[in-house]
Amino acid sequence: MAAYLIGTIDIEDNEAYGLYRSFNPALVEAAGGKYIIKGKPVTVLEGEDLRSRFVMIEFANEAALRRFYDSPEYAELKPLRHASSKSSLAIVTTDDEASVRTSFQIHAFGEAVELTAVTSTLPEIGQDEVRIQPTLIAVNPVDWKIRDGNLAALPFEFPHTLGCEGVGVVEAVGAGVTNFQPGQRVMAHSSLLQGGWFADRVDVPAQLCAIVPQQMSDEHAAALNVASQTAAQTIGLHKGKIRRSLVIGASGAVGSIAVALLNKAGARVDAICSISNSAYVTNLGANFLPPEQAAEVEYDFVLDAAGGPAIEAGYRNLAKGGTLVSVVQPVDEARAAANSAVAIRYSVKPNGKQLSELMAEHEVLPEPRIAAILPLQQVNAALHLSKTGRVRGKILLKP
Ligand SMILES: NC(=O)c1ccc[n+]([C@@H]2O[C@H](COP(=O)([O-])OP(=O)(O)OC[C@H]3O[C@@H](n4cnc5c(N)ncnc54)[C@H](OP(=O)(O)O)[C@@H]3O)[C@@H](O)[C@H]2O)c1
Repeated sequence: MAAYLIGTIDIEDNEAYGLYRSFNPALVEAAGGKYIIKGKPVTVLEGEDLRSRFVMIEFANEAALRRFYDSPEYAELKPLRHASSKSSLAIVTTDDEASVRTSFQIHAFGEAVELTAVTSTLPEIGQDEVRIQPTLIAVNPVDWKIRDGNLAALPFEFPHTLGCEGVGVVEAVGAGVTNFQPGQRVMAHSSLLQGGWFADRVDVPAQLCAIVPQQMSDEHAAALNVASQTAAQTIGLHKGKIRRSLVIGASGAVGSIAVALLNKAGARVDAICSISNSAYVTNLGANFLPPEQAAEVEYDFVLDAAGGPAIEAGYRNLAKGGTLVSVVQPVDEARAAANSAVAIRYSVKPNGKQLSELMAEHEVLPEPRIAAILPLQQVNAALHLSKTGRVRGKILLKP
């Protein structure tokens, strides 16, 4: 499985191009590349005129080729080629489609970093893994938070394929997997460090997968994964019965499911969100509180799924023995403890068994709102929309 960088060139400034040529072979060699054809003349037999010289460099695979092409060292050399010649470059691989995947990856953190499509040979499937061909992939705020570097303290490795949840069809299973088989429709939520969903194939540990209920659409399943597990796990952090609760960010994916689950458990739910979403959260069965309105009741359970200063209402009204959880921002444990309560900053733990249980009772969960379904190639636009758009509902990507 090789990848070839092919180029046709018309040299316009021999001296400057000679300088480029004196540096480039060393870079190619250091990146594992091998010249097959080095600047030989082209004789056109048919069709449009090509440029006059041809170059062909072989790499082990496309990832190795792109590492060379995207390297800072080559970035320094490129302007010299641009200034001294007219050139066209392209990639050709010998991989067949069934043995490769295309993934949207980052090679560094940064708000301006663009995810780039990389085609690489599929690895051997892991013993306990399920290989999924995604049909719909969900975008989460955490995707752009990872890209921006907000979670850079975690041990991410580059290149990193973003995307932590989706729905798709099982293509293959590892030798140790007995509970899934090719052709099944599954949903899964991968760990942040693993990611991998912004791709046309993703390998996920079987223990993180769940069968999609027959009557559930792909859109519905893709939108429920992370949000339903986050809501369920945070509610589970409170030891004891929840009689009164406050959900901050109740109109979002996590918040709306938390409202539904708390309702089902018989709790009163007060909801903080923007006024434009008040009818939505009221329909879910919550009492809408405008962000600035202080509640008069004490809460056994507070979920902050929005971040920002609204959490103050949670601390102020937290009952003795109550639990305040934020999935967005640091919490003040001491302040809660002074009132014999607890405050927890929580990160969702992917769990296929829990996902199956939640899907079995999905009728109680709100119908997810879908804001947009975009082609996977538009993943950068989707992240921008998630970060800045104040969208109403989930953004999904279609490979
Ligand atoms: N720690 C974890 O494990 C974990 C897991 C899942 C999610 N999260 C975090 O929890 C938060 C909510 O996630 P989600 O999936 O529910 O998000 P979402 O569906 O996008 O909902 C976010 C809600 O926040 C409100 N909002 C306030 N300022 C906003 C802005 N500038 N842009 C967009 N929305 C804004 C919006 O409601 P109003 O317009 O009504 O105010 C929106 O409905 C995110 O920060 C996410 O990263 C954490």
